[in-house]
Amino acid sequence: MDSLSSEAEQYERIGTAVFQSSDDAVRLVAGSIARLIGERRAEGRTAVLGLATGSTPVKLYRELVRLHNDEGLSFANVVTFNLDEYYGLSPHHPESYRYFMQVQVFNHLDIPPENIHVPDGLVPRSEVFGYCQEYERKIVAAGGIDIQILGIGRSGHIGFNEPGSAVDSRTRMVALDRLTRRDAARDFRGEENVPAYAITMGVGTILEAKELVLLAWGESKAAILREAIEGPQIDTVPASFLQRHPNCRCYIDEAAARELTRFRSRWKVGPVDWTPLLIRKAIVSLASDLNKPVLRLRDEDYAENGLATLILETGSAYSLNIRVFNELQHTITGWPGGKPNADDSNRPVPAVPAQKRVLVFGPEPLDAELGMAGTLHRLRRHQHEVTFVYLTSGNLGMPDNEARMAISLLNELSADRPADSQGKSRLAQLTDELEKKAPFDEDSPALRQFKGVIRKAEARASCHVLGLDPSQVLFLDLPFYEKGRYRQFKSTDEDVTAIRQLCQRIQPHQIYLTGSGAEPGSVSGISFRLVVLALKECGLETWMKACQVWLYASGERPWSPHEIDMAVPLSPAELALKLDCLYHHRSQRSQTPFLGTQSGESWQQAENNNRSTAQHYDRLGLAEYEAIESFRRHKESEAV
Ligand code: PGA
Repeated sequence: MDSLSSEAEQYERIGTAVFQSSDDAVRLVAGSIARLIGERRAEGRTAVLGLATGSTPVKLYRELVRLHNDEGLSFANVVTFNLDEYYGLSPHHPESYRYFMQVQVFNHLDIPPENIHVPDGLVPRSEVFGYCQEYERKIVAAGGIDIQILGIGRSGHIGFNEPGSAVDSRTRMVALDRLTRRDAARDFRGEENVPAYAITMGVGTILEAKELVLLAWGESKAAILREAIEGPQIDTVPASFLQRHPNCRCYIDEAAARELTRFRSRWKVGPVDWTPLLIRKAIVSLASDLNKPVLRLRDEDYAENGLATLILETGSAYSLNIRVFNELQHTITGWPGGKPNADDSNRPVPAVPAQKRVLVFGPEPLDAELGMAGTLHRLRRHQHEVTFVYLTSGNLGMPDNEARMAISLLNELSADRPADSQGKSRLAQLTDELEKKAPFDEDSPALRQFKGVIRKAEARASCHVLGLDPSQVLFLDLPFYEKGRYRQFKSTDEDVTAIRQLCQRIQPHQIYLTGSGAEPGSVSGISFRLVVLALKECGLETWMKACQVWLYASGERPWSPHEIDMAVPLSPAELALKLDCLYHHRSQRSQTPFLGTQSGESWQQAENNNRSTAQHYDRLGLAEYEAIESFRRHKESEAV
């Protein structure tokens, strides 16, 4: 995919390579790191690596560890400097970057300990300035950084250089941006626990590295990447300063690249093959930009907005408008399981069999409800055989306080049951653990299991609202999740097998899943890949050949109508029912008070997304609904 002409990349001010999968990208980057280390070894010199933390580089580090273990790549001549560290966290704190680096990287490689540098989060406040200057001196003394690995935050930060950071800023103490703290809230089990300050290399420090490599995966990074890569150099987007570096390259996946002009508006950057999908995309964009219904677009609108070729090649605005209007119209259906006894030639779902077996996968409790609670309810009401499968228990996302509440409830219940001494001692152990544990201590297996039970209870209550009875709700508790923790998940064949066996047992006519654009290391991203792998294994089975696989939208952003293959409208009453269903996942409400539009609960976001999709259809001149849930067909060629 990286073979597009330079004409297509004309808007990009940083060289950008786009990969179908992050695996391909990290292999390439790890390969160039390995080459550098080898060359330097041959010269008797060290290689100086600038390292980053976060979810993004995890796969790169796994590949480096693999090169070390399987291919004998030695890191004995490597010196490392990390970009940043939370201020106030000790090296042993599970969320400190030092700890992250030990667990993910340093414990597995032969880098001499004295060659490793991570800013110290415990330097006394009065010594921070001198400490930061010393950090810079050490970089210079090591010969400067040869390759600096970078991630990008949704705030546009590199390192912890938040909006407002100057292009010539140096290593220093900084306050973290609100968005950064919110993105870290899950790791810290609540935004209030996220440190407010950090020590970071400056933008100027970073720009002095000989080579910069920016990695980014998943659609949540798409908007900020567009600003960094195509926008002006400006301190509100510190990553845009990377445009100044003569040897900087972005390695990103397709989901992260989707807002770059060459993907968003391909027709603006050179000749294109006008496929039906691209035509739909161009016309929906045109109508949306001009705020006009599709059927009222004129020849001039096309011509004046870079779409003259479309008119030339395919006739007139009139015929194009009608064609796309009809296509959009045909995506709308109140019959997500197919409409029995109806002509289905222009419907997204076939009419037969009238009663379908439907398998819905939710990565964690709440994900599928956010994306498709209304549709689930409809499928159930239309008498389809729905099986709703939660792939993971979600026990890592359960705040201690919710567990305390459940324990208090159980204690009360068991008070008048003196005979149940076993149950009581288990409760006593859990109570004891909850009393003693610090906010970041890992939960014991018993506490994790208990937290999972609470999430399951919430899930069952929410399914009850949708009319699903307990026999239709399954919890797969995939091992990758139960054995892992955030950023350290490792899936195996065992996970794929569990999903495959379930599919083979149910032999569904329809499958619903999510996560195709998610960050690949996230629960949603991993779950998506596992289901797709399992379905591949079923590929030759008769039921699979006839099975429609649908992707539902995550809470991340509303989909544009051009991306939607099936739009299921919700009435006001159905939207209210959906919200009722979502509220039952009470442990997942945000732990911080509502603060402006950037914050808010996930259910609020889902409601906004569903409403805004309906409004978008309305603005394009289609019917005006209260809300719409969005789906698109999964294509087998999509990356896993
Ligand atoms: P992430 O963070 O990899 O966890 O998304 C990137 C960054 O903030 O630099």
